[in-house]
Amino acid sequence: MSDNIFPIYDQLVSRQEKEDFLNQQGAVFWLTGLSGSGKSTMAKQLERQLFNEGFVVQVLDGDNVRSGINNNLGFSEDDRKENIRRIAEVAKLFSASGVVTICSFVSPKNDLREMARRIIGNEFHLVYISSSLKKCEERDVKGLYAKARKGEIKNFTGIDAPFDIPSNPHLTLDTERDTIEDSTASLYHYAIKHIKKS
Ligand code: ADX
Repeated sequence: MSDNIFPIYDQLVSRQEKEDFLNQQGAVFWLTGLSGSGKSTMAKQLERQLFNEGFVVQVLDGDNVRSGINNNLGFSEDDRKENIRRIAEVAKLFSASGVVTICSFVSPKNDLREMARRIIGNEFHLVYISSSLKKCEERDVKGLYAKARKGEIKNFTGIDAPFDIPSNPHLTLDTERDTIEDSTASLYHYAIKHIKKS
């Protein structure tokens, strides 16, 4: 950080006031998993359900992040790291405003998720969306696995770039065994405990 930057710590509206105003607690639910595991579908469904219950929610995922704030980043190791760093910083700002923030990113390595946790702090909840590569490849919703197998996409997670199974997620949802609806319901029950004002 430059010597001439002064972070604002003495804000005139506190986090507590914002959370009281929204009648909810800010939190970040960080969904990690292979492409095609169901992360984005679940993020959208959870947002819908929580919004229906009166919560203010923001989803961050490839659609709104990689086409906007991170549109200068690709999939090299360094770019993925910068992708996750920026997303974590943005998620932290949202959650500090009391907004329930759902992040849906492959975030393939333990060190990337650990960085996100360090940036965000206590309200970071790691949710592993588990589905085998075989299943994700069978689904191949975007046709990207087929392209990666043909060598048309390099560094594709699961094919020629690694995915670490998260070592200590707060919650694991198995979208190969369970339906997306059931998995979203489990996520909803987990989330509600952390965002409802006591
Ligand atoms: S991350 O690795 O930096 O966390 P992110 O979640 O933002 O990835 O983007 C992943 C999405 O981008 C995938 O779901 C897929 O649609 C697309 N994509 C394009 N190229 C790649 C690649 N090389 N590896 C993984 N996903 C890719």
